[in-house]
Amino acid sequence: MDTPVVNLTELLRRALTAQVELGLGEMVITPKAVRKTAEQKESETISTKKQAAPGDLFTTLEKPVAEPEYSSLEEHRAAICNCRLCPLGDTRTTFVYGVGNPNADILFVGEAPGRDEDLQGEPFVGRAGKLLDKILAAMELSRNEVYIANILKCRPPNNRDPLPDEMEKCFPYLREQVRLIRPKMICALGRIAGQALLKTSTPLGRLRGQWHEYEGIPTIVTYHPAALLRFPTYKKGTWEDMQTLLERLKQSR
Ligand code: URA
Repeated sequence: MDTPVVNLTELLRRALTAQVELGLGEMVITPKAVRKTAEQKESETISTKKQAAPGDLFTTLEKPVAEPEYSSLEEHRAAICNCRLCPLGDTRTTFVYGVGNPNADILFVGEAPGRDEDLQGEPFVGRAGKLLDKILAAMELSRNEVYIANILKCRPPNNRDPLPDEMEKCFPYLREQVRLIRPKMICALGRIAGQALLKTSTPLGRLRGQWHEYEGIPTIVTYHPAALLRFPTYKKGTWEDMQTLLERLKQSR
């Protein structure tokens, strides 16, 4: 019997088709297996930027052809802050990119801006944000030392839950922030952030209490600060999660 000649492109096409059929939102290839050299990354950065320059990203293209990589958070923010990829671009007051130390060891990821964040352009500045500041202070950290971002960069009307399409469109922005910051660990705040980062529908109760990985970065999921305002009994568990985070951070230094 003849052995069929299957080239690499065909194999890749089949793998991608299988993943799409499985409902996976992004290509799953272990980062280790495809880790790129700095030179490869550099040349790709240049070539992808040519396809979608910051200024024309949302005016000439309905969707970016490729996801460009940027050299700094500021450059990235400038390129995406007029995003209109989903309807939230029409209802937001301010695009809420993120705040903190671009070289942070810890990245906190929330769900989406609320009313205060939409008005002020900074994540976690309302009541939940004040509580997050207290949690950080108890960890002997400040918001200038960590980085804080959200799954969605624009406020959903009336603070409703993000829609799957909104998260899908917005997620590449967070992915690029993670690539630029390269934190030692990530803390997802609440179910929606945890599930979106880890591409899972596992309930929060089962996501908590163990380490996960996002793009090879140790990731922990804890309660959203807004939930602590409603259910103060969750504070104990949150503090335990923060101790776990700090312990691992200490070990990594
Ligand atoms: N809740 C979030 O998830 N993010 C914010 O920025 C504010 C409140």
